[in-house]
Amino acid sequence: MARYAHIIGWGKCVPRRVMTNDDWSKLVDTSDEWIRSRSGVRERHVASEGESTLTLGLEAARNALEVARLSPAYLDLIIVATVSPEYPFPATASLVQDQLGATHAGAFDLSAGCSGFIYAVAIASETLRSGAYQYALVIGSETLTRMMDWTDRATCVLFGDGAGAVVLAASDVPGGVVSHTLGSDGSGGDYLIVPGGGSRNPATHETVDQRLHCIKMNGREVFKFATRAMDRATRLVCQKANVDLEDVELVVPHQANDRIIQSAAKALGLPNGTFYVNLDRYGNTSAASIPIALCEVLDMGRVHRHDHIVLVGFGAGLTWGAVLVQWETPFPGVRIKWWQRLTNALYYRWARVRSVFARTRRRLESWRTSEGNGQDSGDGDGDGDGDGDGHAPPRSSPAADTPPASLTQPSQPALSLPDQEVAPAELPPPPPEPTPAEERDDATTEK
Ligand code: UT7
Repeated sequence: MARYAHIIGWGKCVPRRVMTNDDWSKLVDTSDEWIRSRSGVRERHVASEGESTLTLGLEAARNALEVARLSPAYLDLIIVATVSPEYPFPATASLVQDQLGATHAGAFDLSAGCSGFIYAVAIASETLRSGAYQYALVIGSETLTRMMDWTDRATCVLFGDGAGAVVLAASDVPGGVVSHTLGSDGSGGDYLIVPGGGSRNPATHETVDQRLHCIKMNGREVFKFATRAMDRATRLVCQKANVDLEDVELVVPHQANDRIIQSAAKALGLPNGTFYVNLDRYGNTSAASIPIALCEVLDMGRVHRHDHIVLVGFGAGLTWGAVLVQWETPFPGVRIKWWQRLTNALYYRWARVRSVFARTRRRLESWRTSEGNGQDSGDGDGDGDGDGDGHAPPRSSPAADTPPASLTQPSQPALSLPDQEVAPAELPPPPPEPTPAEERDDATTEK
């Protein structure tokens, strides 16, 4: 039986702190007029102390799981698309997995620049369609302001921080992610690059003095590439799905520059309104820009059953990609009940306790082996497990890995879609558009 991959949950999270163009004009030689007319950005969210790619991604993931009404214990796969990971390694995705208590999920980070979220959705949807997995969590999370040269006015004014996430589920209901296209041209790699901190230029005092750990961009060249890439990827993904361009109800593009989006709309012959734009409020959040924008259109009720939505992006690599989604999930979803919220809160608390328990036990084990056998177990392989195989012992016992049974029951074990549309009368009214002032008040923005 054919299998399909549907988006059943979505969520976002952006930092509380907002920087306007006027704030920037106090730091570098720029103006609100220049930034708005050249890029379309009006303000962006900037991570403060205590906020990071992990904390933003985790919150976005929790919001997405809440909409999906799915316990993290049922996730099979977690992918974090990012170019600003928590650490070079371990993967941010593994840290998310631990803090969610997603004890049965594999997890990895994916680096494909601003196209990362598209790449991750394409890969996750194929693993679901293949029958390998049932549920996947895809997160785009970035804190690019941590990698910015705050003196380079041509680059620093464009970027912002944030995260967006989706939960994908396998189903036999046709639709969902129906086609995708991915591309790369590494010959343009140096147009958008962080040259320092990797294998070529490991971090030294000199690399830091030369700001090689910061983003370097040839804006004009990226601009030219971007307009072509958006046009080509959108056409290709529609062709692959046998969907006419005119039948695309909504395009959610990577939010880098308003002029790039307008030029893509013109090249495709689609009305400007078909393209959703929110970069005026967030700036360029790289791999997080598409999922944040997707959350907004879904929360606004701009997506209806059977709609075709194209997600399209481009970025460092150079890379590009597009995904065509045929929306079949009943929308809007039923609001989560208070007791479901409580269950989630208890589950996340349990996940934290489990994580602390696993870390403590690992420390105790290594202390016990070094007490008994000197520095190592004496097996000569240096791994401390006494088996001589050179591999460390398993990280946690089945008991520590198994969540309480009462918390692992997903309220939505498998996606099954009703034949009928949800009756409009049953639906909650769409949330009112938040004003910028309200947004600033939100500590971490809800789904
Ligand atoms: O996610 C993918 C990543 N990036 C992108 O997609 C970015 C793609 N590129 C762009 O969005 C645009 O190229 C920019 C917004 C970066 C720049 O716009 P532009 O129209 O291509 O400007 P430009 O680089 O040609 O610069 C025009 C002028 C220059 O002055 P001169 O040399 O003509 O005298 C710059 O020095 O604007 C100057 N300039 C600024 N002036 C005030 C550059 N940055 C600023 C600034 N404020 N922040």
